[in-house]
Amino acid sequence: MESGALLLGVFLALLCVGVVRAADTVAVGRPLTLGQTLVSPGRKFAMGFFQPDGGAAGSWYMGIWYHNIAVQTPVWVANRDTPVSDPSSSRLAITPDGNLALFDGTGSIAWSTSANTSGIANASDTVAVLLDTGNLVLSPASNASAVLWQSFDHVGDTWLPGGKLRRDKHTGEIQGMFSWRARGDPAPGMYALQLDPSGAPQYVLVANGTREYWLTGNWTGKFFTGAPEVAASSGSSGYSFEFVDNDEESYFTYNFAVNTTVYRFVMDVSGQVKGWYWVEATQAWNLVYAEPKARCAVPRGCGAFGVCSDGAATACDCARGFRPRSPANWGSGDYIDGCVRDAQLQCAKNSSGSVDTATKKESQDKFLRMDGMRFPDDGRVVGAASTGDCQSACHGDCTCSAYAYNTSCFLWHGDLQTLQAGIGDGQAGAGSLYLRLAASEIPGARSQKWRNIKIAAGAFGIACFVVAASILLLSSLETKIFK
Ligand SMILES: *[C@@H]1O[C@H](CO)[C@@H](O)[C@H](O)[C@H]1NC(C)=O
Ligand SMILES: *[C@@H]1O[C@H](CO)[C@@H](O)[C@H](O)[C@H]1NC(C)=O
Ligand SMILES: *[C@@H]1O[C@H](CO)[C@@H](O)[C@H](O)[C@H]1NC(C)=O
Ligand SMILES: *[C@@H]1O[C@H](CO)[C@@H](O)[C@H](O)[C@H]1NC(C)=O
Ligand SMILES: *[C@@H]1O[C@H](CO)[C@@H](O)[C@H](O)[C@H]1NC(C)=O
Ligand SMILES: *[C@@H]1O[C@H](CO)[C@@H](O)[C@H](O)[C@H]1NC(C)=O
Ligand SMILES: *[C@@H]1O[C@H](CO)[C@@H](O)[C@H](O)[C@H]1NC(C)=O
Ligand SMILES: *[C@@H]1O[C@H](CO)[C@@H](O)[C@H](O)[C@H]1NC(C)=O
Repeated sequence: MESGALLLGVFLALLCVGVVRAADTVAVGRPLTLGQTLVSPGRKFAMGFFQPDGGAAGSWYMGIWYHNIAVQTPVWVANRDTPVSDPSSSRLAITPDGNLALFDGTGSIAWSTSANTSGIANASDTVAVLLDTGNLVLSPASNASAVLWQSFDHVGDTWLPGGKLRRDKHTGEIQGMFSWRARGDPAPGMYALQLDPSGAPQYVLVANGTREYWLTGNWTGKFFTGAPEVAASSGSSGYSFEFVDNDEESYFTYNFAVNTTVYRFVMDVSGQVKGWYWVEATQAWNLVYAEPKARCAVPRGCGAFGVCSDGAATACDCARGFRPRSPANWGSGDYIDGCVRDAQLQCAKNSSGSVDTATKKESQDKFLRMDGMRFPDDGRVVGAASTGDCQSACHGDCTCSAYAYNTSCFLWHGDLQTLQAGIGDGQAGAGSLYLRLAASEIPGARSQKWRNIKIAAGAFGIACFVVAASILLLSSLETKIFK
């Protein structure tokens, strides 16, 4: 009896050891499902299904995060733009050709590696292993050093120590680090950090694939000329930064001599690249690096109808007559959603977009003068001989949201992306911008006063009604009681 229990105990213990030891690996017949996680051998990183904070309900992702950090911090996501909705029937598994794939509930592949496994003797005998560096590596079970695919070659928004951001000199492929589309949405967003496509030894921040908005400056061997704070090494933390340039590839990599340092570089949704390290004592991420420092340098950094002003206390504000589309995001420093109108335009209420001259609805929209504004790039020049003609041209087109006149007449249509304020007088491409608003939003406008009068009158009316009703009620009560 006793020996039976002992045997069972030993068996269970062995089983546990087996499970624990297997838990860093996905292999044939050992998929990863909801509720399970891979954990790296030193228990630094974990991998499994998760839902990002602030994400859409019913959108599940397969990702890697810090195992020992309570604050949810994904560092890599497999199915960035193909979330699965049925995690309980989805699984991460090895395919017959030896690749790693995420299967959704219908058995369709939501994401997979695309490794060339034709050179492997037994393709269905590959394994995917999560390492303590946060790297997920696919290799033959028999030879872990024959890397077929690794997540470090497919950086998401986070560049971990030991990872590379590289340029392949054979294929010309440049590996960028892409921001999330929004907090809660890991789909590749608009901003990327990558090596300079021209081949210069520097990083560039690129918006929308083409527009470079910040450069580190060339690497001198010790630091970047435009970002001297990123240096080859720095004493106490044992931080090292290295540039490698050979016939195959060029890349930067960085690391820490002290392997307990928990650090990550992130291409943030704000368009800034940020360096964070984990402070155990406060249980929080500490921001130690952010570029570009000037919010106005990030294209669309304050979103639609957001206003940036370098040196201002708040990074972004909404233009007058607008409020944040998502106050929660705005409050947490994520401005990319931009702003929405407080009061709808009269003109735009007509879905046809054209001005209904019969009812003169367009006359109820007005223009707010904003001084010291940089003219956004996407203005359209129209022929207009005076500021009055320019205003009429904008007024007459319901899709026109602003105009400016500096001997040329500029019209802007649709959303105005990130207005920049606080530009001094006399600068070319800057001046007074006239923003279309519902008349009620224009300070001092008659309709505003009229609206206030109406509100006051309404409030007075309600007060009178309440008083009158109370008197009536009281008198009827009185008559009842004293009958
Ligand atoms: C950290 O470094 C120490 C000493 O070099 C080593 O024993 C340990 O395994 C390392 N830990 C991790 C998680 O890499
Ligand atoms: C895949 O690898 C094999 C040998 O390992 C090679 O002959 C073949 O060209 C490779 N295929 C591709 C598409 O790279
Ligand atoms: C290939 O590997 C799989 C999984 O380990 C195994 O079931 C199968 O028998 C192997 N096939 C050959 C031909 O070795
Ligand atoms: C394992 O893979 C590495 C890298 O591809 C190779 O150099 C080595 O010879 C392989 N070892 C065996 C035993 O096949
Ligand atoms: C940076 O390096 C590239 C190539 O090495 C060179 O062509 C370019 O002039 C350098 N830029 C500056 C500003 O020194
Ligand atoms: C990105 O670029 C494309 C084509 O150049 C353009 O159509 C699109 O509007 C741009 N998107 C943003 C968000 O700038
Ligand atoms: C909207 O425009 C159409 C065509 O211009 C016009 O027939 C219609 O009366 C307008 N509606 C309003 C509410 O102004
Ligand atoms: C008017 O603005 C445009 C566009 O920003 C600029 O190129 C031009 O120099 C400005 N003209 C004057 C007279 O300031």
